[in-house]
Amino acid sequence: MPEQLVIRDIASADRAPWFRLWAGYNAFYQTEIAPQISERTWQRLLDADAALFGRIAEIEGRVVGFSLSVLHEGTWVDAPICYLEDLFVDPAARGTGVGRALIADLVALGKQRGWSRLYWHTREDNPARKLYDEFTAADDFVRYRLTF
Ligand SMILES: CC(C)(COP(=O)(O)OP(=O)(O)OC[C@H]1O[C@@H](n2cnc3c(N)ncnc32)[C@H](O)[C@@H]1OP(=O)(O)O)[C@@H](O)C(=O)NCCC(=O)NCCS
Repeated sequence: MPEQLVIRDIASADRAPWFRLWAGYNAFYQTEIAPQISERTWQRLLDADAALFGRIAEIEGRVVGFSLSVLHEGTWVDAPICYLEDLFVDPAARGTGVGRALIADLVALGKQRGWSRLYWHTREDNPARKLYDEFTAADDFVRYRLTF
């Protein structure tokens, strides 16, 4: 892991680097999020009252990655559940432990803040599963999704 790596809350000064990484993340998923939705996502990430929150990976002042998560309630538990929705590391900074540190950060926050669960989905063939398997084994649930 790079010695100077810091994981911290997202802040308004991260706007330009976050939008640059967000564009890379959209390209990775071959999707085009409408600009007004990206703007709305950005605004919610800065809003302390929103269920969305973002964490930034920074090396020597350079933003190199992010995790974006949603805290939500659950019927089987009393404490918040954290859904890690988006995880991205600048291609130039990959393979040095930044992704691992972003997930470990959420694990640490979950313990500190008393969440009941942290979970995420990924494509079955995503090579990043090698990393995810370090944290826990994938379960046998499959996803059904309707889009409106
Ligand atoms: C997934 C991602 C965030 C991982 O970030 P990263 O900083 O490269 O990950 P790390 O360096 O912490 O990886 C830790 C280990 O997992 C492996 N790994 C992680 N991502 C990998 C990938 N895409 N392909 C192959 N191996 C990968 C690394 O080789 C490393 O193993 P090692 O320690 O034995 O060398 C990054 O590859 C990325 O942004 N990918 C594109 C977007 C994406 O897939 N997001 C997740 C969607 S669910």
